[in-house]
Amino acid sequence: MGKIFKIEGNSAPRGNWFDEADLWCSNVYIIQRDRTAYIIDTGIGKRMHEKISGRLSELDEIKCIYLINTHRHLDHIANGGIIGELRDGYLEAHSYIYERARLSIESLLANPQVWPSMAEKIDIGYEYLEWLKKEDMKNLDFERVSFKGWKIGEAYLLYTPGHSSCSICIYLEEEEALFTGDLLWYVNPNLPSGNIDQILDSVAKVKELVKRRGIEYLGNGHLKSVKDNDNVLKYIEDWEEKERYLFSKLEELIGSRDKVTIEEYLDMLRGDDHPLVQEALRINAPFWPSSLENFAASFLRIRGWNKSGDSEEWTRERE
Ligand SMILES: [Fe+2]
Repeated sequence: MGKIFKIEGNSAPRGNWFDEADLWCSNVYIIQRDRTAYIIDTGIGKRMHEKISGRLSELDEIKCIYLINTHRHLDHIANGGIIGELRDGYLEAHSYIYERARLSIESLLANPQVWPSMAEKIDIGYEYLEWLKKEDMKNLDFERVSFKGWKIGEAYLLYTPGHSSCSICIYLEEEEALFTGDLLWYVNPNLPSGNIDQILDSVAKVKELVKRRGIEYLGNGHLKSVKDNDNVLKYIEDWEEKERYLFSKLEELIGSRDKVTIEEYLDMLRGDDHPLVQEALRINAPFWPSSLENFAASFLRIRGWNKSGDSEEWTRERE
C-alpha cells in the first residue's frame, strides 16, 4: 500500500479570495506507491509550488510521476508547469486532464487580460497537458457501481460531472482512497455553468463506491480530509442533506410563480436561521469562492427558466 501526503491549500482568505496575499488554493495530494508518485492537483501560487517541489524531493527512488488534474478551475491547476521541471533523463512525468477542459483553458491563456491580477501566478504547463479523450473512456465497474473513465497507472479516473463538465474523481484501490476535487463542495455549483442534477448523480455514485469498496480515506479538494469508512459515508450524507436543504428553499420560492429574482431567494435565506443556511451565507462570495447567486442561477437555468438582458427577473414559460 502506498503513502498519502497532503499539502494543505489556503482556505482562510482575509479579503477577496483571488488577492495575492490571500490566494485561495486547493489542497494537493501526493501518493507514493513503489516507484510511482501520483499528484492530485497543483493548486495555485508560488508558495504551493515550493511545497510540492519540497515534498517530491523527499520521496525516494521515484521513476514515474502522474499528475492528475481533477478539473480545470485555476485554484487547482495553476502550478501544472512543475511537470516541466520534474522531467529529466530518468524521471518520467505526465499531466492529465479531461479534454472538455480544453476550450476554457485555451481561451483563458489567449486572454490573460481577463484576470490581470492572476496572470503572473498561473503556470498551467499547457505544453505538458495530455488530454484524456472521450473516445478513450471505458466502463469502470466496481461491484455494481459503474463509472465512465480512464485508468492511468494504478489510478482509476472516474468521470463525475456537475461542478464542471470536466470533473473527475480519482480512486486508488490499494490505498482505499478517493480524491473528489470540488465534488463535495458546499453550495455546489459555484458557477452558473455547473449542473446541480449532475452533481447529485455523481455524489450518489460516489457514495455507493464508498460503501461497496470500503473507502477509508476521502481527500477533498479543499478543507478537511476524512478518515475511516463510517466517517466518509457520514460526511457525504451530511453534504447531501445540506445541499438538498438549499434546493428545497429554491423550490419553495419558485412554487407556482412565473417570475423570481435571485435577491428574493437570498432574502428568503437571510430570514432562515437554520444553521445550514447560516453557513451558506457565511461562506458566500467575495470572502469564499462560493456563490449562492450562481448556485441559484444554475438551478433556474436547468429547470428551464430564463433571464433576459439586464433584468434581475427570471421567468418561465408555461405550456
Ligand atoms: Fe472548482
